[in-house]
Amino acid sequence: MKAVVVEQYAPFDQIELKDVPSPQMEPGHLRVRVEAAGIGFVDGLKIEGRYQTKDPLPFIPGTEFAGVVEEAPGAPGGYQSGMRVMGMTRSGALAEEIVVRPETVYPLPDGVAAEVAASFRANYLTALYALSARATIVAGEQLLVLGAAGGTGTAAVQIGKLLGARVIAAASTPEKREFAREHGADAVIDYTQAGWRDTLKELTGGQGPDVIFDPVGGDVSVQAFRSIAWRGRHLVVGFAGGAIPALPFNLPLLKGGALLGVDLAQIPTREPDVQKSLMSKLIGWLAEGKLKPAVGRVFALEDFREAFKTMQTRAALGKMVVRIAR
Ligand SMILES: NC(=O)c1ccc[n+]([C@@H]2O[C@H](COP(=O)([O-])OP(=O)(O)OC[C@H]3O[C@@H](n4cnc5c(N)ncnc54)[C@H](OP(=O)(O)O)[C@@H]3O)[C@@H](O)[C@H]2O)c1
Repeated sequence: MKAVVVEQYAPFDQIELKDVPSPQMEPGHLRVRVEAAGIGFVDGLKIEGRYQTKDPLPFIPGTEFAGVVEEAPGAPGGYQSGMRVMGMTRSGALAEEIVVRPETVYPLPDGVAAEVAASFRANYLTALYALSARATIVAGEQLLVLGAAGGTGTAAVQIGKLLGARVIAAASTPEKREFAREHGADAVIDYTQAGWRDTLKELTGGQGPDVIFDPVGGDVSVQAFRSIAWRGRHLVVGFAGGAIPALPFNLPLLKGGALLGVDLAQIPTREPDVQKSLMSKLIGWLAEGKLKPAVGRVFALEDFREAFKTMQTRAALGKMVVRIAR
């Protein structure tokens, strides 16, 4: 089969597509023919060996995928060959086939395209966990989303609207702000402009945002916290801008505010029941058509490097997806 193979940790432009043996089947597992894989920020860090945990070499990158079950001996988890699934694993999704445990996949609702399903789980689960389980956002509250046209940002805009919040989307270019509006943002803001906090104050009727969804980091995070409403909640999601900010402790005191961490990787083990209930909510919204995950650009497997490049050069709108066809 064809697969992206990381033999040495290196920048993505040095990584090759190779012909490799199909993964070996294991008892109680499923073999899935991958139709699409979603590319996340973490995948790029893993390829370069810069993520907090390192995958042993050689490895096939890619954590999110959608496809069709090809082998399911004994129907583990009730899955049978021919069923469409979406899943998330530690690695291996940028390949024509993957062998996974049944607990790592979910059945795909009818009519949901593989590209959509592969864009779905990490970003939308992160957004829903952050906004509901951590920030306990309620209808009518004001939500500021930083990096609002990126993968997690777009998900937060859409989920925020589904939860009844008023959503203010912060993004760096007119194209990105338009993309955020198209996905439901009520107002947009250019947070690269010096006076952006004044605009935010006006947009929130002088109160500041009740909840901040922050996948960006750096100085913008501290500036955003300085604008937060009384009893506001600032969700620490990631550091796409590169810098991990430090918040002076007097600010939470003065604001009656809270800084809340969000780590998708730990939810399955630390809060399995929460993950289950949030996933069933998301899949329900997906099946009912209430939630239409934003697919950014779709690349052929041969062009996987372009997907990483688009993301790492701050040019991505929504989630980058690689289509894998045989
Ligand atoms: N905590 C969790 O469980 C969890 C889950 C998923 C992802 N994450 C993390 O969240 C972060 C964002 O992930 P994502 O998938 O949303 O990424 P993304 O699609 O690339 O979006 C990140 C956004 O950050 C902004 N940004 C500012 N400076 C940037 C820079 N130097 N390079 C790239 N983007 C920059 C960009 O918006 P503007 O151009 O508008 O500023 C961009 O749209 C990553 O650090 C990722 O590891 C965490």
